[in-house]
Amino acid sequence: METKLISGVQFSKLPSSYIRPESERPKLAEVEECKNVPVIDLGCEDRSLIIKQIGDACRDYGFFQVINHGVSMEAMDKIQGVAHEFFGLPVEEKMKLYSDDPSKTMRLSTSFNVKKETVHNWRDYLRLHCHPLEKYAPEWPSSPSSFRDIASNYCTQVRELGFRLQEAISESLGLPKDSLKNILGEQGQHMAMNYYPACPEPELTYGLPAHTDPNALTILLQDIQVSGLQVLKDGKWIAVNPHPNAFVINIGDQLQALSNGKYKSVWHRAVVNADKARLSVASFLCPCDGSNISAPKELTNGGDSSTYRDFTYAEYYKKFWSRNLDQEHCLELFKN
Ligand code: OGA
Ligand code: NI
Repeated sequence: METKLISGVQFSKLPSSYIRPESERPKLAEVEECKNVPVIDLGCEDRSLIIKQIGDACRDYGFFQVINHGVSMEAMDKIQGVAHEFFGLPVEEKMKLYSDDPSKTMRLSTSFNVKKETVHNWRDYLRLHCHPLEKYAPEWPSSPSSFRDIASNYCTQVRELGFRLQEAISESLGLPKDSLKNILGEQGQHMAMNYYPACPEPELTYGLPAHTDPNALTILLQDIQVSGLQVLKDGKWIAVNPHPNAFVINIGDQLQALSNGKYKSVWHRAVVNADKARLSVASFLCPCDGSNISAPKELTNGGDSSTYRDFTYAEYYKKFWSRNLDQEHCLELFKN
């Protein structure tokens, strides 16, 4: 059977194409509830404290959550509402937007990379290019009718947050505030609305298997009611429980490369559950295609200790999508 959408389809048991071999299963009972993924208050008046907290989190976890981040509660509520409405549309209507071609700038798809993978994942996702908005918003779904306005507003606010974080991350590395932004060029922005339907056998499969994000910085809005995000810390999977009104931020492969490996693009995964569907909205800031990803001299001893060879983002992205998710870290292929 060809893999197509799973949202809005009834399953009494997990189809065999989603079942992981025993050794690859999530072993949910072994996952620790995390007390530690740092929650950082961006509204704090002591900027040097924020920078220190961000630096510590990037080094020790590759992940943190932010509150008082400047994105309005209304924008956060509305994007989740409209995403729920979208995935609630009839399957026939959604199928009009279906594609498994990763080069498309707007597509509804399922699993991760259905053409490359051997076992599928319990996820549908709408993937949109978002920058510049004037170019891409017109190709976004026209149903629900409020979709484009809500998503445009959300993307604009999230982009601002991303830039503020990149400035703080630069400073936390001892670099001038604009250093990372300058290297990343006119950044692309993509959004993935992830929908993980309730799953008849959550112990046997994933929403998303372990992966690192290929972009620079990820800003994730996760369902406040249904957890599912887990990150690898010191060899163990820990749950990132949703914090009210927070975003989950993680360092992508490009910031690992630009920090010369000081900050980690950490393995993470999404698991599913038997009772409830889960929604997340991931925003990805990506270097402009032609930008040269090369760690600043201040971090590489003048270039002598560069961990990775220079590459363009276009080259990296192509490599990432040519592979399956649960392989070695894609950055390993770019080591000196
Ligand atoms: C992603 C991702 C996690 C989640 O989209 O890259 O890691 O909780 N999502 O949906
Ligand atoms: Ni991810």
